[in-house]
This record gives sequence, C-alpha cells and structure tokens, in this order.
Amino acid sequence: MKKKKIIVGNWKMAPRTIDEAKKTFAGIKKTASTLRNVDTVVCPPFIFVRELAERTSGKRCLVGAQDAFWKEEGAYTGEISSTQLSSLGARYVILGHSERRAMGETNDMVSKKTDASLRAGLTVIICVGEQSRDQHGEYTKRIEEQLKQSLSQVQKKSLSNIVIAYEPVWAIGANAVRPASPEDVLEVSILIRKVLTNMFDRESSHIVPILYGGSVDAKNCGSFMNEGGANGLLVGRASLDAKQFSEILKVAEQSAKRK
Ligand code: PGA
Repeated sequence: MKKKKIIVGNWKMAPRTIDEAKKTFAGIKKTASTLRNVDTVVCPPFIFVRELAERTSGKRCLVGAQDAFWKEEGAYTGEISSTQLSSLGARYVILGHSERRAMGETNDMVSKKTDASLRAGLTVIICVGEQSRDQHGEYTKRIEEQLKQSLSQVQKKSLSNIVIAYEPVWAIGANAVRPASPEDVLEVSILIRKVLTNMFDRESSHIVPILYGGSVDAKNCGSFMNEGGANGLLVGRASLDAKQFSEILKVAEQSAKRK
C-alpha cells in the first residue's frame, strides 16, 4: 500500500458560481501543490470541471466528477459520459454516493458506471456504507453486498484504479448523528479488505486505498487516518472552505509521514 494519502473534496451542488469555484480551488491548490505525500482531488459539479481542470498543474491537485453515465454516447438526455469527463481533464469520478443511491442508484448501475469509467481511464471512487447500525452487525452485510455487486465487473488488473470510500449514511451531512469513530472506521476497513481478498486476493486487496467520509473536519480528520487506519478522506462541507480543507490536507501530510 502506498503511504500517500488521498484527500477528496466532494463539493456536491456548490458553490453557486464559477467565480466562487475558481477562488476556492485556487486556495486549495496553493496548499495541495506543496504537499508531497497527499494526492488532492476536488470534485466540483460537472459544469465547473473543465475550468478547474485547466487550472491543475502536476499531479498533486486533480479534478474529479461526482458521477458519470455508463454509456459512451447516445440518446440519454441529461447524462454525461466518463469519456466526456476525461476529455475535459477529470481524472477521478465518485460513484455510488449515498445521495445518488437515495435518488435510485443501484449497485448494478454503480457496477456499469465503474466499468465505463475504468475504460475511459478514470480512477473510480466507489462509495459504500450502511444506512444505520444495528446491534447484531447486520449492517456489515449491506456493505459486503454493495462491494461485491459494485465491483462485479472489475478485473484484478484494474484494481490500481479503484478507491473505496466508506461513508456511513448516518455520519454524512448537516443532519449527521455524529461522525463515525476511528474504531468504526478501522473495523469497516478490515471488513472491506476481507471482502476484496475473497473477491481477488490478499495482495491485490492491499492496492486499493480505503477512505473515510462523513462529517470530516480539520479537528477530527487526523484520528480517522492515524487511529482509524484510513488511507485518506472524502470530505463534503469542509472541502468548500479553502482554509479548513487546507488544514485537513496538512494533517494528512503529517499522517502520511508517520508510518
Ligand atoms: P460531509 O459529506 O463531509 O458534509 O458529511 C461527506 C460526503 O457526503 O461525501
């Protein structure tokens, strides 16, 4: 496993204007470009991908998308393909985010989108996570099912372009119950590696970085990487504040240097 951390900003449907997007991105890039041990990925709304991708330099601060359709082209009103995104300079794509799953996205759709995105040369960040936790650990079955079905078309040789983000739904957004604990993150990372080992093999399972997402901020971010063993973070709200996101990036740099 690479020691580098991957920190992804999921901007969701924000900010309101391209000018704000450029300003925030410039602030993030300033810090990101100085960090050797962190790969920073900003995922703005589709409409801002091109402008921001044109502002990237080197590989330390890249741009990704928040979704992509599974077909290359055709009569699919409103959809955007991985190839189109790649041609605009996107290098990553988030797939299966819980907010998209809540709008009807299934594991089968995530699987088809993953296949198309890998073909287009994008690195795919697949989100998995339970809706809520139960005493008997039934929630782990949901995570296992999401992983198995979403990765069903992925071949072993493509695993170097896969990232898994563990995002428990109860820990995401303004209505979150609480952020997950580092112990929660560690426990689920072990489960994810176990599922990957069963699907592929042990060695390959260790190629795949596992991120944590859900109410990450500058104060709690270190604990997920240091005690929780996460290889990086998927950050929502805090990624829209260049100052706070830059703090998170700096903590990630320190965390990468620890081990
Ligand atoms: P949050 O969102 O950091 O605002 O909780 C995380 C996400 O949805 O990816």
